[in-house]
Amino acid sequence: MATFAVNGGARLAGTATITGAKNSALKLMAAALLAEGTSTIHAVPEIADVAIMSEVLRRLGCEVELDYQLEAGAALEPGMGSARIRVPQRLGTETDYDLVRRMRAAICVLGPLLARCGRATVPLPGGDNIGSRGLDLHVAGLSRLGADIRNEHGFLIASADALVGATVWLDFPSVGATENLLMAGVLAKGTTVIDNAAREPEIVDLVSMLVAMGAKIDGAGTSTLEIVGVDGLQPVEHTTVPDRVVAGTLAYGAVMTRGDVHIRNGRTHHLDVPLGKLVDAGAEVTSTEVGFRVVMDRRPTAVDIVTLPYPGFPTDLQPMAVGLAAVSEGASMITENVFEARFMFVNELIRLGADVRVDGHHVVVRGHERLSSAPVEAHDIRAGAGLVLAGLVADGRTEVSGGQHIIRGYPDFASQLRALGADVTLEPTTEA
Ligand code: UD1
Repeated sequence: MATFAVNGGARLAGTATITGAKNSALKLMAAALLAEGTSTIHAVPEIADVAIMSEVLRRLGCEVELDYQLEAGAALEPGMGSARIRVPQRLGTETDYDLVRRMRAAICVLGPLLARCGRATVPLPGGDNIGSRGLDLHVAGLSRLGADIRNEHGFLIASADALVGATVWLDFPSVGATENLLMAGVLAKGTTVIDNAAREPEIVDLVSMLVAMGAKIDGAGTSTLEIVGVDGLQPVEHTTVPDRVVAGTLAYGAVMTRGDVHIRNGRTHHLDVPLGKLVDAGAEVTSTEVGFRVVMDRRPTAVDIVTLPYPGFPTDLQPMAVGLAAVSEGASMITENVFEARFMFVNELIRLGADVRVDGHHVVVRGHERLSSAPVEAHDIRAGAGLVLAGLVADGRTEVSGGQHIIRGYPDFASQLRALGADVTLEPTTEA
């Protein structure tokens, strides 16, 4: 248990460095399972989920070393390291319930285990409290490749004598289903086509690691991925793509606090829509040699935002968009199209004095100049980060409990915000 204590009023200013993306690093670590030998993933963020994924891989028989001290002999950026994963010739095929319950992303071992071992037993996951998050697309897709998948006693039990390439049409461009299908298809016999595939930068990152391992994949970053199966893959070294959600979070924080933040390693082309919305709100966003800079010198103007799969506005930045709207001049409508329960945190924002009405998957927000501090609770990673940003623009001290969710996705969030001039501390709490 942990609480973020935020004393509002500061203007975020200075430079922040972004680590590799959580949502990429976890999948890259799973992809290492596809080749016997040692793969090394660089720019891995120092967060709880990376530790959980390391444990998942260890229990499958891998040796995993996380090194947050030194990378290639050079001093590292804080919160960034490398994961060295030694994959044995014979892997275990069962993933523990206690680990997958804590981190839904662990289901991304399903595809690689099926491809390498012809079987996998994976518990139905837990994860963030943001909606039902089915696995039907994963199951239907892998079944198209010839896997037999049963749901028994809370576990998915999958087996395949041999995976055979096929065309899979996804009803929705699911990130997780695209990743599992990619990692299964690379060792299947023949050609797999994933139609209506997810196009997120994290998918492109995974494809580039798989290609470096010897996979044959065309179409990364488009809606159609074509994979020609190969007989085997080799271990690699790979550097994780920077975390666009952390970069976007800080950019929204800069605008909410009328600040001036330089985001090193931030990639504007991964954030076209969210940064465009900040410009519409009145901010100045400029690319620099090593990232981008966001400057805001007045109260933001209200903007409407609609979440969609990439390249649309990311659902993971929706809480920050609602936070921005809460202090903007005018009324904003925010529409959530990806996760049905993602407005649950709005009640917490209302405790901070925000004027928000929820209607199904829309919220209407009427902006106030400032919010008012209160104790609030984070139920998931991104809503938690959004509440911390809201605390920055509230008068007095806001305590965001449930901080353990936030640190699953934001390495060193409190000290990163402190370095930008905010008064934020992460305090361990002991009560149950
Ligand atoms: C990933 C990200 C998460 C991000 C999300 C959307 C990780 C670890 N997490 O989650 O941060 O918010 O992408 O960008 O990378 N769905 C089904 N059936 C399925 C699969 C998905 O109905 O078989 C639904 C989900 O319930 C959800 C939507 O599709 O409503 C999107 O899910 P998906 O793209 O799969 O997200 P994740 O991979 O779980």
